[in-house]
Amino acid sequence: MRIIPKPKECKVFPDSMKMGNYKIDTIHFADQLEMIKCQLAFIFGDINYDETGSTILILQREEMQEEEYKLIVFEASISIEAATAKGVFYALQSLRQMILSNTGKEVEIQCGMVSDAPAFDWRGLHIDVCRHFYSIDFIKKQLDLMAMYKLNKFHWHLTEDQGWRIEIKKYPKLTSESAWRKTKDGSIYGGFYTQEEIKDVVEYASKLHIEVIPEIELPGHSVAALAAYPEYSCTGGPFEVIDVWGVTDDVYCAGKDITFDFLRDIIDEVCELFPSKYFHIGGDECPKSRWKECPDCQQRMKDEGLKNEDELQSWFIRQIEKVLLEKGKTLIGWDEILEGGLADTAVVMSWRGIDGGIEAVKHGNQAIMTPWANLYFDKRPFPEDKKVDLPILSWEDVYKYNPIPEGLTPDQEKLIIGAQANIWTEHIYTENEFEYMLIPRIFSLSEIVWTDYANKDFESFKSVVPKHEDYLTKLGYDFKTYKEQLETNR
Ligand code: ACM
Ligand code: ZN
Repeated sequence: MRIIPKPKECKVFPDSMKMGNYKIDTIHFADQLEMIKCQLAFIFGDINYDETGSTILILQREEMQEEEYKLIVFEASISIEAATAKGVFYALQSLRQMILSNTGKEVEIQCGMVSDAPAFDWRGLHIDVCRHFYSIDFIKKQLDLMAMYKLNKFHWHLTEDQGWRIEIKKYPKLTSESAWRKTKDGSIYGGFYTQEEIKDVVEYASKLHIEVIPEIELPGHSVAALAAYPEYSCTGGPFEVIDVWGVTDDVYCAGKDITFDFLRDIIDEVCELFPSKYFHIGGDECPKSRWKECPDCQQRMKDEGLKNEDELQSWFIRQIEKVLLEKGKTLIGWDEILEGGLADTAVVMSWRGIDGGIEAVKHGNQAIMTPWANLYFDKRPFPEDKKVDLPILSWEDVYKYNPIPEGLTPDQEKLIIGAQANIWTEHIYTENEFEYMLIPRIFSLSEIVWTDYANKDFESFKSVVPKHEDYLTKLGYDFKTYKEQLETNR
């Protein structure tokens, strides 16, 4: 009965339950019946909903925390207690894991009790769809996987130097031009999501209790946008959507007021599509060389009394923070937003290490830990894999990570709202390679963010990983082909 992520408390009772068909008994969650039936259909396969079947009793317990649940499997019935639909949903994910594969008309479930709640509110996965582009169906398939392992924040990296991936109606060239790049062999690579497709994903995710957070990168990593709208750069261009990886010098001009009109218009449209209270503005890897040479940027620094270009970046972020606050949104940025002064309400995503997160919480801001050393899933997962010159990050190593750094006060620890793995896709060309990068490391991630650190247990975790891999293979996740090819080619 080892569930991933490991629950707070788990007891095994002596007997087992034989489940034929089932019925749902709930008065409190009547409006959730569609979701519950849908999840049960995944869990039980050929076993059907039937008013004469075994009872699944679902009770509301208002005193429980938002994501907490209790699941009990008796010999003749199952009971679920939770305060909210989220708790019910997570109970169902645990029930699914107590069965994993079912193809018959009856299933045997070990009797027992699971009492559970997450360690962190932010249990995230970031996907870069800019370096390589992935279809809506593929994104939904990854959301299904996240939900199974109780992850709840999908950070969607939508804009980059190499491509702009979200339709903005006021600026059509962002998709007719910025979404496409010329590759070395002369072909055109790219793609984008329409606003209807984005809404569809957000709606799909919400049914899985996953919040989708858009990332619109600024002031750096913005050449794709500038290729279509060079008037918002310092030099005026011309630029191309680039086809090499790394960091480029051309960024949004901080001196021209029209840059902020442009960004405000984009933010207006993006906010309409994403109900999340969070909005990620990037903020990482912004070279200041153009700003140093640009008369508009230098004039801005004089007018605003800014001492250097780091302060200009900080001023830039504060302008965007104001726009977001007007809309009731909380700004998230990569840890470079600390340089030159941190915006008051910003949440820092600590990626270059853990120091950015530590500095943020000492400052009284919230932080999300996503350190390069531990949670960058663009690193290759197996020692056999020498595809690119990046360190190996195995699922065993990911498992060890503790999002709470040493040396913080209890109040500062509370400001670490969670952790997240980031999949950057420079070197991920195909869907099965993507799944190979995610599975099984997503299991380790899930346990890092859900299970209390002191309650983690690698030995029991390791013992069930193969069973989960088999289950996901049956569901159509193809992470094995790529690995097998690697092994054959050695
Ligand atoms: C990052 O990896 N540049 C946030
Ligand atoms: Zn400028």
